[in-house]
Amino acid sequence: MPAGSAFTVAIDGPAAAGKGTVSKEVARHFGFAHLDTGLLYRAVGRRVLDGEDALAAAQALRPEDLHRDGLRSPEVASAASEVAVRGDVRRALVAFQQGFARQEGGAVLDGRDIGTVICPGAEAKLYVTASDEVRARRRFIELQATGHDVTFDGVLADLKARDARDSGRTDAPLAMAPDAVLIDTSEMSIDEAVAASIAAVEARMTGER
Ligand code: DC
Repeated sequence: MPAGSAFTVAIDGPAAAGKGTVSKEVARHFGFAHLDTGLLYRAVGRRVLDGEDALAAAQALRPEDLHRDGLRSPEVASAASEVAVRGDVRRALVAFQQGFARQEGGAVLDGRDIGTVICPGAEAKLYVTASDEVRARRRFIELQATGHDVTFDGVLADLKARDARDSGRTDAPLAMAPDAVLIDTSEMSIDEAVAASIAAVEARMTGER
């Protein structure tokens, strides 16, 4: 990559597919900045749970809001998915994400609509997914380990409800961009998923596909 140029990697997919880990590791490998865009919606969801209006919260969002405690809780995840349905909330968050994407030195953004709406011109696009059961199992283990009182069936039901809301909304639904590379992590270890993702981005950099 020539010095001073921007290279955007867009990584989309449903919850608990391994997107977060893959994005972090791809960013680390290439020395790119990383933005987990789910945190923007989670931070707005957190403010709504605290009694604020969703649009006002999105317009007033500051970078430090992304570091608040408790953004990973199931309660906040649900609130995030609900505010993410609103077109006005989504529009309030576009400029920040696009600015981040075009920074010099390269950027990885992960979310639901990065390759389709936020960065349709991204140089590399990945769609990271896995079966419902595999994703629910991973999320269940993660939540149990962090002390949440959850059952597998409850986690699976929550995940399906969130997927349906994220994929079914009219404004920027979760979707695979036609030019994205599909990474199905159902049968992959974390290391395999990361290696496949890095290889796919490298192929785009060198113009192989
Ligand atoms: O990736 P996550 O689980 O942290 O995302 C939380 C919610 O935010 C998710 O249910 C949908 C929403 N979201 C979105 O609508 N668009 C994005 N680019 C990222 C997240």
